[in-house]
Amino acid sequence: MLMNRIETAAVNNPARRALQRFYEVPALLGLAGGPLPAGAQAVEIGCGSGYGTRMILDRFGAAQVEALDLGEAMVEKARRRLMDRPGRVRLAVGDATDLKAAFGAEDGTYDAAFDFAIIHHIPDWRSAVAEIARVLKPGGLFVFDEVTSHALARPTYKKLFVHPAHDRFSAQDFLAELPRHGLTVRGAFTKIQGDYLLGVARKQDTGQA
Ligand SMILES: C[S@@+](CC[C@H](N)C(=O)[O-])C[C@H]1O[C@@H](n2cnc3c(N)ncnc32)[C@H](O)[C@@H]1O
Repeated sequence: MLMNRIETAAVNNPARRALQRFYEVPALLGLAGGPLPAGAQAVEIGCGSGYGTRMILDRFGAAQVEALDLGEAMVEKARRRLMDRPGRVRLAVGDATDLKAAFGAEDGTYDAAFDFAIIHHIPDWRSAVAEIARVLKPGGLFVFDEVTSHALARPTYKKLFVHPAHDRFSAQDFLAELPRHGLTVRGAFTKIQGDYLLGVARKQDTGQA
């Protein structure tokens, strides 16, 4: 589901970017055990204007990122932001639940998958988790920063933003879903009374976590 105008402004606000850059990315890097190995191939779902994509290249050290978003306008913004990274970024308009359609992604394609606040926008959010698990290599990392049902139930969220209304996930629901798709949580934490969930999971490597 696309963002409305208010959420688009909130997401691209300098204060949120500072929070991402100086708090969330360092925390996620800590949970991931540091930057990705040399040559790592990454995918980012719901890349928005491409700010997170830059973090994946510059801070997580991915060699290449394939990034997609449902919104054409967002992908265009990302294209402009990432113009100085020719050859390292491939952008597409597409749905996070079908990475084969967007990038031709086969099973076990990527070393890491990134979700910066997008899965809560997907009505069938479990299918997005399943798709991430499918395209990760064994041992690959799923890095997530999510908005939970606790936040979505707040009057401000309900009044200002538009999200799918049914079957939203709490932090516990999200963390419980990951092992069903072969993803073992390495570390995770919530902030602001459970409104946000940050974590890293690893795709099981031939039957072991
Ligand atoms: C809250 S924004 C986050 C954007 C970006 N990751 C960031 O942190 O700035 C959620 C994004 O997910 C996109 N989105 C929603 N549903 C999607 C889907 N099914 N597949 C891909 N992108 C989707 C929206 O267009 C929007 O850009």
